[in-house]
Amino acid sequence: MLRYVTTNDGKVREAREYLDGVSQLDYDYTEVQATELGPIAARGAREAYRHAGEPVLVDDAGLFVEGFDGFPGPYSSYVEETLGVETVGRLVAAEIDEPRRASFRCVMAYCDGAAFAASPDPVDRADRSAAAAAGAERSSEDAASDDGAERTDDAETTEAAADPLPVKLFEGTVRGRIVEPRGDGGFGYDPIFEHDGRTLAEMSPAEKNAISHRGRALEKFAEWYPERSE
Ligand code: IMP
Repeated sequence: MLRYVTTNDGKVREAREYLDGVSQLDYDYTEVQATELGPIAARGAREAYRHAGEPVLVDDAGLFVEGFDGFPGPYSSYVEETLGVETVGRLVAAEIDEPRRASFRCVMAYCDGAAFAASPDPVDRADRSAAAAAGAERSSEDAASDDGAERTDDAETTEAAADPLPVKLFEGTVRGRIVEPRGDGGFGYDPIFEHDGRTLAEMSPAEKNAISHRGRALEKFAEWYPERSE
């Protein structure tokens, strides 16, 4: 059975619009810090697969503000927790001229323990970037090579060294702009992100799903997955 690994029930509801029979795995995997979403989601998918032993889907998302060179991007959760969404909106308004372009991006990472045939979708075969960003923790490839650097006793690292797990990545993006908060639907940055004249918080869940970064990534995954699960 396919497990969507998240502590957010709303994401599972969104995923069910695209995938029959997906169920939630409420597992808090390690969110490493990295400058790109793909390695963060891939690392989470490997960890969740080793934990669950079933096919897993992990996503990582972020808000990329053009005038801030993509910040907060992969740091969006941390920035939401520390500054809050309204402060982000005020900072953008104070520092950046209209139209204050931004995008939301989402990467879905799928892992079922097996390899993938070549295809246009990106495949992350190692934890190299995530491990580099995590500092002392070793990547699967690095841990497998004997370069004399210090190793951790982390069980996941040891398993990864023996068997680096390929992870398939599916990406989705929605473009928009940062505005004053409007609407009370959705979650996170939805009230300050406007797409086609409405903030994501002013859309119904179905409307948001149809255009959202996560909806687009899920759609790509849902097209590919039936063949895999046959
Ligand atoms: P995560 O990858 O789902 O943990 O999300 C990273 C950050 O982006 C968190 O601060 C979320 O609140 C925010 N975020 C993710 N998806 C959305 C969305 O669809 N709308 C608004 N904020 C989002």
